[in-house]
Amino acid sequence: DPIMPPDLNKAGACNIAVESNFPDKSDFLKCCPPYQGDETLVPTDYTFPKTPLRVRRPIQEVVNDSEYMEKFKTAIQKMKALPETDPCNFIQQSKIHCAYCNEAYPQNGDVNAPISVHASWIFLPWHRYYLHFFERILGSLIGDDTFALPYWNFDNPDGMTISTIYTDPNSPLYDAYRNTSHYPPKIVDYKYNYVDRELTDDALIAENLAYMRKTFKEGEPLPELFMGDPLRANENPSLTSPGQLEVIHNSIHQWVGERDVPHRDMGTFVTAARDCIFYGVHANVDRLWSFYRARRGNRVEFNDRDWLDATFVFYDEERKVVKVKISDSLNTSKMCYTYAESTAPWLGAVP
Ligand code: C2O
Repeated sequence: DPIMPPDLNKAGACNIAVESNFPDKSDFLKCCPPYQGDETLVPTDYTFPKTPLRVRRPIQEVVNDSEYMEKFKTAIQKMKALPETDPCNFIQQSKIHCAYCNEAYPQNGDVNAPISVHASWIFLPWHRYYLHFFERILGSLIGDDTFALPYWNFDNPDGMTISTIYTDPNSPLYDAYRNTSHYPPKIVDYKYNYVDRELTDDALIAENLAYMRKTFKEGEPLPELFMGDPLRANENPSLTSPGQLEVIHNSIHQWVGERDVPHRDMGTFVTAARDCIFYGVHANVDRLWSFYRARRGNRVEFNDRDWLDATFVFYDEERKVVKVKISDSLNTSKMCYTYAESTAPWLGAVP
């Protein structure tokens, strides 16, 4: 059977999150949504919007578009300024990620089979929806239904450093919990594992490109390899393996986040979405998935009801709790967004 959403209107539908790098009962682990246990709450099926197509652009391009940057910063600022209990508040949004990623939702009351949206075929579609709602909330806060998130184009040599849009301490896009030794001009390392390797920039760029190329080349015929293992209802999510794109993404999380335990913010899923850079990373991960789909002629990756019917809950920009299915995430124009055309410099990289 497919993964189903937690029964949020029942008490006990959400528990304290699990992450051993934080002390037990730490406030960081309290990431249940504010409506838990509200019996009147009935999630409805999401009605896909009919708004203009939002075009997500690479950060190295938007950085010079001052009008766009003003909008982006204002929207984030407004989101951070919403009351703490508002589901559209920035920290509340980050908690959605924490709850879904750090085992706060037991499936049918089984704590050994919590819902987890990492390390399986759920990873890409769940994060696609997560960004969709986050982007729409930002747009609604500035009254702009064309607003689109930018993506951190980390698969392009022009985008392999952390952008300066995130490093200005006076910007709402700033976050204090990062490994600042990786600030520009440091080149990101797709294989980072808390060890800085002694490589020249050129060597690291070449390695990254070759690794991305290999990921696509091996993964194109094998969606399980690229996207992750199947995960069905009531299966233990710690037994499945992530796809190769997710593995690169994990290294980027570690490379950005605080070096020491507990690796806030990006270095641990409990807090990762408290850093605006999270949404830049995930927009690119999502773009790479779109690219992958296009290269496969948009063929469905898993013709399996347990994947297609897997269902999640999110808040829409009107603060309604809505249900969405993986099958509806496969067409980005249905979700009213797309990616600006861009190059894939790694396609030609010879390992
Ligand atoms: Cu749910 Cu980049 O993580």
